[in-house]
Amino acid sequence: MITATGLTKHFDSFQALKGINLNIDSGEVYGFLGHNGAGKSTTINILAGFSKATAGACIVNGWSLDKVEHPGDLHIGYLPEEPKFYSWMTGREILLYLACQMEQPAATNRIRHLLDWADLGSASERRVGGYSRGMKQRLGMAAALLYDPDLLILDEPSSALDPEGRSQVLRLILDLKQQGKTVFFSTHILSDVERVCDRVGILSDGRMVLEKPLRQLLRENVDSMYEISFTGPCPEDLMARLRHIPGVNDVNSNEAYLTIAVDEPGPTGNAILALLSSSSLTIDSFGTRKASLEEIFIKEVGKHAV
Ligand SMILES: Nc1ncnc2c1ncn2[C@@H]1O[C@H](COP(=O)(O)OP(=O)(O)O)[C@@H](O)[C@H]1O
Ligand SMILES: [Mg+2]
Repeated sequence: MITATGLTKHFDSFQALKGINLNIDSGEVYGFLGHNGAGKSTTINILAGFSKATAGACIVNGWSLDKVEHPGDLHIGYLPEEPKFYSWMTGREILLYLACQMEQPAATNRIRHLLDWADLGSASERRVGGYSRGMKQRLGMAAALLYDPDLLILDEPSSALDPEGRSQVLRLILDLKQQGKTVFFSTHILSDVERVCDRVGILSDGRMVLEKPLRQLLRENVDSMYEISFTGPCPEDLMARLRHIPGVNDVNSNEAYLTIAVDEPGPTGNAILALLSSSSLTIDSFGTRKASLEEIFIKEVGKHAV
């Protein structure tokens, strides 16, 4: 549904995208992760046909982007980072306005269905100016679905919402997946990705630093954290010495725990254990645990930091 090769974007002398490759299959829910400023919206604006790449090739929904003159020609559903609506119109009026290319009564039926789907049925005659952020976001998703596209590109659909609003949006994304739609969405909230995505790509400073099926990513990072509980003081130089062990990525500690992120358990674990045993630390327990998506994210982004 989306193929991007060597996507590059310059804003004058600033390079926001540094050669991005993407391959999104039909029916996938793809989470496009990255910190603020990583280049997510820049990528999405290009994929949705609103901005031109400086270099690189892109095929979206079967269309080569350099041949597309108007974003509407792509026939995709798009939700911008901050959807804007005429505040004096009601939710239903907004959708009717956007459905101007549809025949009646198909438009009325479709709008009724979408308002119910987005849980806006009872608010449909209220002015959008009074809608909560979550309601506006759900209205934006209904608008993106108006012409029943197979591919949806959503820019941070849930990021600005409270937990309940986020849950509602994520539920809609899961429902789209069940309908067989392809969803490409950006977020900087890791738990959103864990809840709905088949595959994730991590963007950092205009580069893709990792791309994997979510399950594989979480599986591969099982046992990649050592957790050591201890009593008494932690010797001052211990953290630095642990950081020097080959294969150790990160070391953190609080009053009672040391956590050590490693590339792979095994020999690195032996070296950690040997160092701890020779130190004055009083160890209560030593074990591995599964890394959370957040820890994986920090590790991957950290590896590529310049
Ligand atoms: N129109 C623009 N002109 C200049 N710089 C821009 C423009 N749009 C985005 N940028 C810069 O490109 C980088 C990526 O921005 P963006 O794609 O919006 O990041 P994200 O959506 O991941 O938060 C940022 O450093 C941002 O300041
Ligand atoms: Mg953005």
